[in-house]
Formats: sequence, structure tokens, C-alpha cells
Amino acid sequence: MKKGIYPGSFDPVTLGHLDIIMRASKLADELIVGVLVNKSKQSLFTLDERVELLKRVTKDMPNVTIKSFDGLLVDFAEEEKADFIVRGLRAVTDFEYEIQLAHTNHRMRPEVDTVFLTTTLQYSFVSSSLVREIASYGGDISAFVPECIEEDIYKKYGFNK
Ligand code: COA
Repeated sequence: MKKGIYPGSFDPVTLGHLDIIMRASKLADELIVGVLVNKSKQSLFTLDERVELLKRVTKDMPNVTIKSFDGLLVDFAEEEKADFIVRGLRAVTDFEYEIQLAHTNHRMRPEVDTVFLTTTLQYSFVSSSLVREIASYGGDISAFVPECIEEDIYKKYGFNK
């Protein structure tokens, strides 16, 4: 049985993330989406909220489980007995950071590999901060996030949409 981990901040989850989750869930028997307690980022959504939004958007994916983690990704991977880590590559600009992350993780724990999936072209420019910025002005975020979480994002900025 192959187990994958897709880690990230997911603040909030976007259609780009969902694209990676759907495709990675076909590569693994079980996919864990690991929501990071990220000390270096000030988040819009609390950890519990980010987990809840992810659970909502993945509710029809039976082999996907949402969990949070604090600390090193490789330790979380070991705890979960994961076989591989999944990361999405949107453009060449992601590559430098991602390769550094993958090499470091592999050095710390050689038995866990990183698998890269290229983000589907139509989401290759989407990021959570872009969604947050558009929503903060009340702009249309429907092309970037799942419909069922749009309202939660607008609410954070005082909009009732
Ligand atoms: N679709 C849409 N957006 C995507 C995306 C995709 N497929 N892939 C990445 N992004 C965006 C995110 O929206 C986010 O955008 P933002 O910065 O505008 O908010 C950005 O890319 C990066 O976010 P994310 O993929 O969530 O990663 P991260 O940088 O927050 O966290 C971890 C990356 C979790 C893998 C890393 O920080 C980690 O492992 N931390 C644990 C501590 C550790 O082990 N450190 C040592 C590592 S060597």
C-alpha cells in the first residue's frame, strides 16, 4: 500500500491545490494532505479553519485524509509511514525552492522521496496570496477557489457574498 503526503499552508486551499490533490490521490492508495503550522507565515485562516476547508473540498475523495502537523515534514512523513511527498510545480520559479526542499528532506530521510506534479496550466499562476488579495477588495475569486469555500474567504474581509 502506497501512502503519499501533500504538505502545505493552504491559506486558503485553491483550485491549483485541488488539482494536485486529485491527481496525487490517483497515484497513492492513501493521500494525506498535511496542513502546516507555519511559524514564518501570518495566516488568514486558523489551522482548524484551513483543515475544515480542506475536508470540505475533498469530501468526495475517499482515499484523501486531512491532518495538521507541526515541526519537520520528514518527521511527519515518518510518523505517518509515508512512502513519498508530493509537491506541485507551477512554473520554473517554483523549481529552485522545491529542489532545495526535496534535497534537504532526502538528505535528512533518504527513504522518503519527493514526487513533483506539474500544476495544470490554467492554475499555473494561482497562489493563496493572490486569492487573499483579490478577496480583500471584494473582487471575483470564483476562477481560483472551489465554490463551496468562497463565502468563508469573503467573510474574513467583511464581505457578505
Ligand atoms: N496551486 C496553487 N498554489 C500553489 C500550488 C498549486 N499547485 N503550489 C504552491 N502554491 C502556492 C501556495 O498557494 C502558496 O502561496 P502563497 O505563498 O501566496 O500563500 C505558495 O505556493 C507556497 O505554499 P505551499 O505550497 O503551501 O508551501 P509552503 O511554502 O507554505 O510550505 C512546506 C511548504 C510545507 C513543504 C515546507 O514549508 C515544510 O516542509 N515545512 C515544514 C518544516 C520543514 O520540514 N522544514 C524543512 C524543509 S527543508
